[in-house]
Amino acid sequence: MERKDRYPLKNLNTFGIDVAARHYVRFDAEKEIFEYLRRPPLAEATYLILGGGSNFLFTGDFPGTVFHPALKGISIVEEGASHLSVKAMAGEKWDELVAFAVNNRWGGIENLSYIPGTVGASVVQNIGAYGVEVRSVIQRVETIDVPTGKRAVFSGQECGFGYRTSRFKKEGCDRFLITAVVFLLRKNPRFVLDYPGVAEKVQALGDPCLKSVRRAIIDIRKQKLPDPAVIGNAGSFFKNPIVEKQKMERLVKNNPDLPHYPLSDGRFKLAAGWLIDRCGWKGKQVGRVAVHDRQALVLVNRGQATGREILSFSEKIRQSVEQKYGILLEREVRVVEPTM
Ligand code: FAD
Ligand code: EPU
Repeated sequence: MERKDRYPLKNLNTFGIDVAARHYVRFDAEKEIFEYLRRPPLAEATYLILGGGSNFLFTGDFPGTVFHPALKGISIVEEGASHLSVKAMAGEKWDELVAFAVNNRWGGIENLSYIPGTVGASVVQNIGAYGVEVRSVIQRVETIDVPTGKRAVFSGQECGFGYRTSRFKKEGCDRFLITAVVFLLRKNPRFVLDYPGVAEKVQALGDPCLKSVRRAIIDIRKQKLPDPAVIGNAGSFFKNPIVEKQKMERLVKNNPDLPHYPLSDGRFKLAAGWLIDRCGWKGKQVGRVAVHDRQALVLVNRGQATGREILSFSEKIRQSVEQKYGILLEREVRVVEPTM
């Protein structure tokens, strides 16, 4: 465990915002968390849980304690004829788990290759990409209920998963500190290649296998998305909006090329990147903040921008999409204001 005061967070958020936390605690083992939480009085204290910081926007110094779970380890907990249960500790890098699974020929998460961040956070917003969401392989999530300091374990069904959400994001943001996740992976992979552009890329690499799917996904992502190590960003800033069929039909009538995808509940998901793009924002820069020139859903820090600048820029985008299309975009990124 490491405890520090006035801890810089610049390297712990992928926007690269230069802020600090009043207190910082890094946990390297579960028992450290239990011991730490035995101290009173956490209930009233301000804290947040930080993984890799790839889905955060800090608009100022954080006036409380940042908990940084850095628990490491990957192990097989059960093995059957067709599946196996793999337990990964929360502080493992997500993409290192994907690489490990692919190298061992375990299928289920290959389409989620190259998503930044940690294993623990993958559950929080139910990460998704290229036709797969992590909920499809979640068997169990092990947590510590911070207010009581007691262990709480949830099955996949109990996680309340939805598009870019779960119970850990909704009702219990920061309540449950995720310590480990158990994934149910397949020994005989089933390839999901129907997302536009994926099948062609995979075929160009030869017969589909886990390695070629991973390679194809990484190549597509590198073409579209900026590398946070080079240019600060947090991936998609907004979620794709979900609308009723009637609204989709009205919009598509006036905009026949608006991408829209049917959902199982009869509603439709629209492409926020397309909406922002058609409002003329793609590649635009205001001060030190810009919209990425290859993916309009991604805001980028062109160097030393503050969180406030990024937030107010994002609000301008939101207003213009609302004015033009009557859709209020919802943020995917978690914004932390110093007053919170
Ligand atoms: P953080 O940003 O640190 O935290 C995210 C949330 O999880 C916060 O609410 C935090 O409090 C909570 N949290 C973190 N760890 C824990 C824990 N152990 N216990 C409880 N709560 C915790 N996301 C996608 O879904 N699909 C994509 O394709 C995708 N592409 C991206 C591409 C780029 C270039 C970038 C920068 C981001 C992208 N993201 C994508 C968003 C981001 O990578 C994911 O949301 C990721 O899961 C965040 O992981 P993190 O460890 O950085 O979490
Ligand atoms: N589009 C445009 N202009 C743009 C961007 C997109 O017209 O500037 C159009 C594309 O042509 C395409 C559609 O919008 O027809 C969808 O674009 P894309 O395939 O790039 O995916 P997305 O919907 O913009 C989502 C996720 C990504 C994820 C990809 C791949 C959300 C909010 N974003 O983006 O996740 O990697 O699909 O599955 O759901 C993230 O969450 O941070 C993230 C990067």
